[in-house]
Amino acid sequence: MPRTSLRLLKTWTELRAWRAAQNSARPVHLVPTMGALHEGHLSLFRHARSDQGIAIASLFVNPLQFERKEDLANYPRTVEEDCAQMEAAGVEAVYMPDLADMYGADGCQILLDAGPGGEHFEGAARPGHFGGMLTVVHKLFQRVQPQRAFFGAKDAQQLFLVQRMAHDLDFPVEVVGCPIVREDDGLALSSRNVHLSSSGRVHALGLSKSLVTVANSFDKGSRDIEHLNQQLNTSMEQSGVRVAYANIIDEATFLPLDEATAKPGQRWRAVVAGRVEDVHLLDNRYLGTA
Ligand code: PAF
Repeated sequence: MPRTSLRLLKTWTELRAWRAAQNSARPVHLVPTMGALHEGHLSLFRHARSDQGIAIASLFVNPLQFERKEDLANYPRTVEEDCAQMEAAGVEAVYMPDLADMYGADGCQILLDAGPGGEHFEGAARPGHFGGMLTVVHKLFQRVQPQRAFFGAKDAQQLFLVQRMAHDLDFPVEVVGCPIVREDDGLALSSRNVHLSSSGRVHALGLSKSLVTVANSFDKGSRDIEHLNQQLNTSMEQSGVRVAYANIIDEATFLPLDEATAKPGQRWRAVVAGRVEDVHLLDNRYLGTA
């Protein structure tokens, strides 16, 4: 892995100067992050370096996407380790603004609305979260002007909404979803996994196991939404996960399917979330075309 010297860009002015100096023969590829990096982020950096990409990351814990002050305060901040990992992964620059640089001295009064695709699942559990997330990603796209931006598929609803925003608001940015990175036993990597005890970690496997169960049913021909949803729920509950949601969705809309809305030709994905030891975990899996 070629080591780069990571440029620290603390203000929009520094970012603008860095952006203007980039060789236009190479595309600029952005990985937005809130820090607390793990192997999943490192895989996003690897994707960002593909096709001669100049990889730039952002590191900003965005208050607009936290609905509870204590969650924002408790969010892990590991800036030095994060920068060392970025540098080792070949990231060329990191934009790490403070609050005033991102939102101005008087804050941000205009927020994006996530629309129908943001109403269910994480959007229902965390009102305002997706509007705040989209607002900061919109600003990052404006400021960095990347050709591509890379997001992890574990946060499938976030990925859907960012792709939808780029489409609806005419951003010339290709929003690339990168595969979920898993532990050998199937647990999806997440910054939140560090909060699990060793027994909690075993319960947490209930999420990925439930997805394997419904994928098997789908592969054997089951298209009975109620049955598939039930399988997801039962499998998670049996593993000791407190289920938040477990649904089959239509990838084109990110809306939950039922017997009335399910149609042949739709691309189905199973999305699940639940609590283990008060840690909110999510996972998802593409099932196939119905
Ligand atoms: O996924 C995240 O870490 C955040 O939602 C993002 C995309 C960096 C925006 O703050």
